[in-house]
Amino acid sequence: MQDRNELMERLNRAADTLRRRIGACRPAVGIILGSGLNPLAEAVEDAVHVPFREVPFMRASTADGHVGRFVCGMFAGVPVLMMQGRLHGYEDCSAVDVAFPVWLMARLGIQRLITTNAAGAVNASYQVGDFCIMNDQINLTGRNPIANLDAADMAERFFSMLDCFDPHLRALAHEAAAETGVRVQEGVYLGVLGPSFETRAEIRAFRTLGADTVAMSVCEEVIAARHAGMSVLGMSLISNMACGIQGASPTEEEIREVGASREADFERLMRALVPKVAQAD
Ligand code: HPA
Repeated sequence: MQDRNELMERLNRAADTLRRRIGACRPAVGIILGSGLNPLAEAVEDAVHVPFREVPFMRASTADGHVGRFVCGMFAGVPVLMMQGRLHGYEDCSAVDVAFPVWLMARLGIQRLITTNAAGAVNASYQVGDFCIMNDQINLTGRNPIANLDAADMAERFFSMLDCFDPHLRALAHEAAAETGVRVQEGVYLGVLGPSFETRAEIRAFRTLGADTVAMSVCEEVIAARHAGMSVLGMSLISNMACGIQGASPTEEEIREVGASREADFERLMRALVPKVAQAD
C-alpha cells in the first residue's frame, strides 16, 4: 500500500518547480494539446518551456508527435499554460500519472481547462477534419485517478460528473466556431485505453452506447479536473472515421496528416475561443 500523503508531497514539489520556472506568468487557462495539435504551442508568445522530465515526479511523453513539455506564456492576449503533448495510459502511465499535470495546473491556480485530442468518428455523419465539442464522456478505460487513497483525500471522494464538460464553455466554443467559420460538431466522447485501435464490433457497440467519437485520452484528465473543481472544455479533431465506419481502418499516419492539414483552422478557432474562456463568468 502507498504511504498516505505521498502524492500530495509529490504535487507540492512539482508545483514549486513549475512555479519557479514560469516566474511571473500567472496562467488563467490550461490547455492540453493532443495528437496532431501540438504545433499550436509554437504560437505562444514570451514562452517559457519546461520539459515534463524536468518537473519532479512527472512522467515523460513517449507518444509520437507529443513534444512533452509545458509552454507558459501569452496566447491571444491570455496567459496560458499549455501542455505540448500529454501522458496516456497506453504509455504505461497510471491514472494518477495521467492526472498529475492536471492537478499541477489546479495548484497553480488554473480553474479552466481546455483538453484536446484527435479522435475517430463513431458517428457516421461527422466528416474527417471536423472539430467536435465534447458534451459528455463515457470512460471505458477501466481506470479512475481518484481510485487512490491520496487522490481521494484531496477533495470529496464521491462527486458528481453531471455536466463534466461545462455547458457555458461549450456555448462559447460554438460562438468561436461561428465567428471563425470553422465547422464543429458536438457529441459524446468515449475513451479507451488503447493502443490497439478498436474492432469493428467494438465501434458498433460504442455507437449503441451513445458515443459519437472515440480516442485513447481525456477521460482521466476530466475526472481529475472536475475533482479539483476546474471547469472543463473538451475538443476533438476528427482525424479519421472509426474502424469499420465507411470501411475505415485507422492508421497513425492518417491521424498525423489530418492534424497537419487542420493546424491553421485549429489555431483560428483557439484564438477566438481562449479569450472567451478566460473571461467566462
Ligand atoms: N480510435 C482510438 N483512438 C483514436 C482514433 C480512433 O479511431 N483516432 C484518433 N485516436
